[in-house]
Amino acid sequence: MDLQLRGKAAVVTGAGRGIGAAVALHLGREGAHVVVNDIDGPAARGVAADITSGGSISLAVEADVTKKDQVENMISKALSEFGKLDILINNAGIAYDSAGPITRKLFQESSFEDWQKEIALILYGTMNCAKAVLEHMIKQRYGRIINISSDVAKTPLGLKGTSIYSTAKAGINALTRSLATEVAVHGITVNAVSPGMVRTTRALLAEQHREKRSKEYEYYKNFEKSVLGLIPLGRMGEPDDVAKLVVFLASDAARWITGQTFSVNGGLVMM
Ligand SMILES: NC(=O)c1ccc[n+]([C@@H]2O[C@H](COP(=O)([O-])OP(=O)(O)OC[C@H]3O[C@@H](n4cnc5c(N)ncnc54)[C@H](O)[C@@H]3O)[C@@H](O)[C@H]2O)c1
Repeated sequence: MDLQLRGKAAVVTGAGRGIGAAVALHLGREGAHVVVNDIDGPAARGVAADITSGGSISLAVEADVTKKDQVENMISKALSEFGKLDILINNAGIAYDSAGPITRKLFQESSFEDWQKEIALILYGTMNCAKAVLEHMIKQRYGRIINISSDVAKTPLGLKGTSIYSTAKAGINALTRSLATEVAVHGITVNAVSPGMVRTTRALLAEQHREKRSKEYEYYKNFEKSVLGLIPLGRMGEPDDVAKLVVFLASDAARWITGQTFSVNGGLVMM
């Protein structure tokens, strides 16, 4: 199927590694022009260089999505480079402190600052980017916004150590529906992709920080072990598994789909 993404202009946040990098690379392979955003400039530049060497146009922009002025500056750069913006992928979404991913903190150990930091990244980051692109998308009467959520916000079992993260991701699912209803009239679709357990650099970082977060780390390792056996398709996901659905939703083939949250999880959560 030709996804007709050639010449479309996209911004992917948090695309220096993991799922975001896989999405950016796939969009580039389909011929889209891609802004590779990350707070980690060298990582963003590495992914942008890979896209360029594959023959598509790419621009790395180091910016923190929680900072409105940096986001606005990034979108201006994208517009002056590509002359338009068709696709926004809100992917940046794991907050860290000096002891590793905040996502792994138990509720009683989480501080108000931890909540502020993770909510800022997941919810305000998504809001900043969506606000910055919408005026342009409304004018051109076309747009695709895809928010990366997480199945922790959906699982009927709940999940220890994810109180902030699952709360924020549930907010992403709600925002996706609400925004979709508001902008449909302008030819803009808004959907969310909700991964299950995906093997990314986040998993490696959790390993690196296991000394400082030993309790959460133990819990996650046990969880991972027990969950693996419950995944009907028998393995953890790879970033590519998620990227393929994101790219489909970004294409014209998905023109009659909006306000949905799609799980990509090997069958772990079926709802
Ligand atoms: N890996 C999983 O199992 C999994 C499961 C469900 C959902 N997700 C979601 O998928 C998305 C990507 O996760 P991942 O596992 O690839 O993460 P990752 O940590 O491997 O990559 C995230 C990237 O975002 C960047 N980033 C962090 N803060 C930023 C900021 N303020 N501004 C711009 N960039 C920033 C990081 O530098 C990093 O390059 C996240 O939204 C995450 O919640 C991941």
